Amino acid sequence: MKNIAIYHPDKHYVAQLLDKFQVALPNHQCIAWTSDIEADYLLTWRPDAKTFLTEGLKIMFALGAGIDAFLSAEHTDELPSHIKIVRLEEAGMGKQMLEFALYAILHFSRDMTRLNQAQKQKQWLDTSTPKRLPLSTPIGVMGLGQLGGFVAQSLAKIGYPVSGYSRNPKQIAYVDCYRASELNSFLAHSEVLINLLPLTEETTGILNSQTFNQLPRGAYIVNLARGKHLVEADLLKALANGQVSGAFLDVFVVEPLPQKHPFWHDDRIIVTPHLAAITLQDEAVKQISQNILAYEDNRPMTGLVNRTRGY
Ligand code: NDP
Ligand code: OXD
Repeated sequence: MKNIAIYHPDKHYVAQLLDKFQVALPNHQCIAWTSDIEADYLLTWRPDAKTFLTEGLKIMFALGAGIDAFLSAEHTDELPSHIKIVRLEEAGMGKQMLEFALYAILHFSRDMTRLNQAQKQKQWLDTSTPKRLPLSTPIGVMGLGQLGGFVAQSLAKIGYPVSGYSRNPKQIAYVDCYRASELNSFLAHSEVLINLLPLTEETTGILNSQTFNQLPRGAYIVNLARGKHLVEADLLKALANGQVSGAFLDVFVVEPLPQKHPFWHDDRIIVTPHLAAITLQDEAVKQISQNILAYEDNRPMTGLVNRTRGY
């Protein structure tokens, strides 16, 4: 009988998942991970490769969409190449991302920062001139994969002018798609820049001064992917010189965001605690169970990570 081990710091979360996996895969043994277990499959979120690697381990399943923590510098050397990494693909996160992106766009396009400041001062602002026409704000989505592709397509369907940016050329209805070599042209069309890239060597620090300088003046930055995509000091500089007018940030270099971090105190920045799209347990159990059965049947799995590419 094959072993499925689950590791997560929240024991209650592990117990819930174990129950669900035992129902989905009754012919497998589902156990909470401990150091003496020889697991065939390990399910986790922030892995510690040194601790988890055991003789018979075949696949590490990410309980999320991003796998940068699995491939980070301290782990890559330690993960033998025969161990596969499989991530969640969409699994109910697309709609969550879309809602979050929309909220951020509306915050910018309906001038909510200024309105919130005015409310604090009990000031009734003159509203006779709209800041901009509805659904007219040019949106740029970085990353056109499972999540970014859905967000870009959905925003375009609603009526926004949408540009998209990906490594390889893409075709998405009503989205102007740019490939990696066309970054500057993409940025020039992105008044709201939404980041949904995976964190890799190539994308680390991609939201930096150089990038900001290619955006229309007063652009708005929405980072929903990983904290290390953003050079935080460069964002503060761009806010100070007006090149960027505000930011909606769900992810940070250090999480939880340290108490003394300047982002907490800046009215132009909205801070949310890494919850733009959370893992939905039932969707995750369904996808991972199907993948385990596919693997054991020699059928292709979904969400198999290309370790050379880094996502
Ligand atoms: P995918 O792997 O499905 O998509 C990645 C996209 O990024 C692809 O379009 C890919 O291009 C593009 N890309 C990768 N590298 C580059 C590059 N160097 N230059 C340009 N484009 C590049 O990822 P998902 O959509 O599933 O997830 C995206 C990220 O969202 C996750 O990695 C995670 O970090 C983050 N996330 C955050 C959550 C939160 O709550 N804040 C929740 C879930 C995910 P191509 O199509 O050509 O391969
Ligand atoms: C994920 C995340 O990658 O929650 O799934 O950030």
